[in-house]
This record gives sequence, C-alpha cells and structure tokens, in this order.
Amino acid sequence: MSTTKKILALAATGIFALSLASCSSDGGSTGGGEPAAGGADCNVGISMPTRSLERWINDGEQLKALLEDADCTVDLQYADNKTDQQISQIQNQVAGGSKILVVAAVDGQVLAPVLAEAKKQDATVIAYDRLINGTPDVDYYATFDNYKVGQLQGEFIETELDLANAAGPISIEPFAGSPDDNNAKFFFSGAWDVLLPYVESGVLVVPSGQSPASNDDWASIGIQGWASDKAQSEMDNRLSSFYTGGDKVDVVLSPNDSLAIGIEASLKSAGYTPGADYPLITGQDADKANVKAILDGEQSMTVWKDTRTLGEQVFTMIQEITAGDEVTVNDTETYDNGEKVVPSFLLDPEVVVKDDVQTKLVDSGFIKAADVGL
Ligand code: BGC
Repeated sequence: MSTTKKILALAATGIFALSLASCSSDGGSTGGGEPAAGGADCNVGISMPTRSLERWINDGEQLKALLEDADCTVDLQYADNKTDQQISQIQNQVAGGSKILVVAAVDGQVLAPVLAEAKKQDATVIAYDRLINGTPDVDYYATFDNYKVGQLQGEFIETELDLANAAGPISIEPFAGSPDDNNAKFFFSGAWDVLLPYVESGVLVVPSGQSPASNDDWASIGIQGWASDKAQSEMDNRLSSFYTGGDKVDVVLSPNDSLAIGIEASLKSAGYTPGADYPLITGQDADKANVKAILDGEQSMTVWKDTRTLGEQVFTMIQEITAGDEVTVNDTETYDNGEKVVPSFLLDPEVVVKDDVQTKLVDSGFIKAADVGL
C-alpha cells in the first residue's frame, strides 16, 4: 500500500467544507482530538446496490449504526441492482437534505447526471467499494485494494498447483465479474497477470476457449449482475460442451463468492464430489454459504474483505468532512475515473482457507461459529 497522504477536504469540497468548518466551530467540534460527526451537518444518504448479497446488507447496516451512534441523520437505501432505482433514490436523498452521499454504484458508468444535481446542492460524494466513472463530482473513494484481491486469487492457484514447476496441461475455467462494475476489471487483471503467462506457456489450458487474450478483454467472460444462476448456467454449458469422455476441470477462477456458489452447484450436478477430482475454486467476500462450502471442501479459498474496516474508514471520512478537516487517503494515483484521479483509501484484503475460518472469521466476530456449523 502506498504511503499515507492527506489532502484537503477544503480543496475538494469547496464552499461546503468552508461552511461546515465555520459551523463546527460553533459547537460541532469537540475542540481538539476527535472530530464530532453529528449535528445538522451530518446528514448522510447511503445508497447500496442490493440486499441479495449478504455483504451489502452488512455494509449498509454497519455504517448506518456507526453514524447514528454519532447522532447523524441517515437514510439507507438498497437499489435492487437496478440503475434507475438507484438514481431516483439518490435524487430523493438529496431532496431530503442529505449533504454527504455514500454510493456503492449498481452501474459505475451512469451516475454522472444525478451527482451533478447533488453537487448543485453542495453534497459531498464518497464512492463506496466501487468507483463511479465519468464524473468530476465524486470527491473520495474508499475500497479494498481490488487489484490485490485478484492477485491473491491468482497466486493461490499458482502456489497450490506449483505452476512454476508443473508440466501441465492443467485445465482452468476463468470467470469475471459484472461488466458494469469497475471493480471487476481490477479483480480480473490482478488474477490474470499471474495466470496468463502459464496459459501462454501451455501449463494451463482453457478447454472452453473462454480465455481472454489480454486483461482488456475481461468483459467477454463477465457475468452480468454477479448473478449466481448465470454463473451456474455458464459453467453447465462449459462442462457439457467441453468436458466430455471423462475430462475433468482442474481449476475455476471465480472472482467472488456469488459466482462461486453457482459454479459449485454446476459442478455438483455434473457429478463432482469434494475429494480427488474436485477442482480448485476461488472466491471473495467470505459469505456464510461460501465459508460453509470451504469447510465442506467445495470451495478452496475466499478473499476476505473485512467490511467492518471499510465502514469505519468511511465513518472517519465523514467525521473529517463534517469537521472541515483534511480527509485521510492513501492512494492518489490508481483510480482515474475518466474525469479525475479520485483520492482513495485502499484497505488490505486477505486470503481465508479452511484452517483460517475459526481464527480469522469467527474469533474476530465477522461470522458466528453456529452460522457455519462450527
Ligand atoms: C464487490 C465484491 C462483491 C461484488 C458483487 C464488487 O463490487 O467489491 O465484494 O462480491 O461486487 O456484489
């Protein structure tokens, strides 16, 4: 991770920050030490993509609780993975007085007009987890190091199969995330930078032919909406068309847990059982169903992003913004949204395998032992 740098909230949020700074000296600030988040200035609209994935429910509820404990006004909305719904929810939040918007975009390409409207009302915009593209009106970005997520998946496969010393051919089926999610290309690039050299040398082979020639071609294997059922039917097609006569798939590169669940269902219905001929399969998020799958030998790993730390980081940003302080970021180079490089705070993801479930996930309180049958 690059060195922590700070930039001025004042510069990025202009008059809004100035007015908040003067308000906070009227009583919003604690007068040194921790800035106070609450009060009339802390009116936050949170816009999450969907309730259909466990992680977004946790993300939303946790940030809401942190903010409400600090006496902020919070409006939390879920967009059912629908772009139009997300746009109208944001419009309503701005009309209802939200001065800070925290947005995890359904589609990172289409929010420019609604954010331009929000800016006219002096709102400060934080892109949450997913970058928002093509607009100057996003002030900050808080996320996990998305390239590293993919890199951890690629390196896991490389190490587990000792690709550097393997003769091959080892069969792999790569998948990528939703084409409208800016994160998906980072996940794929991180993994493919590790794996493509082995495809080119013939150590890895892709029987289905679904093998992007370069990172730029990632969307050709993207699964729209990160949908489990779409990943399942894609895997069904690949298995029934290209794995005939006893051929087995050795590895599946799955960018996240929702795709992994669909792929695992497909493997099961094609007769794969955990054990000798079951492929390595990657994931991301440490969703409960996938943690169970890891314990049952149906998934090899997940990349864990402790979303509690992401919520805390965004809470810190909001405290800094409302106090008129500098906003803490640690990356001012990576996330160019086509209009500007968005000042970002990147958190560290980490690999979880079967042996880590208790120590990393349960002992830290991220999941309950009973939820995963421990
Ligand atoms: C998030 C992942 C999540 C995926 C599907 C991505 O933008 O970073 O954690 O699995 O969306 O919701």
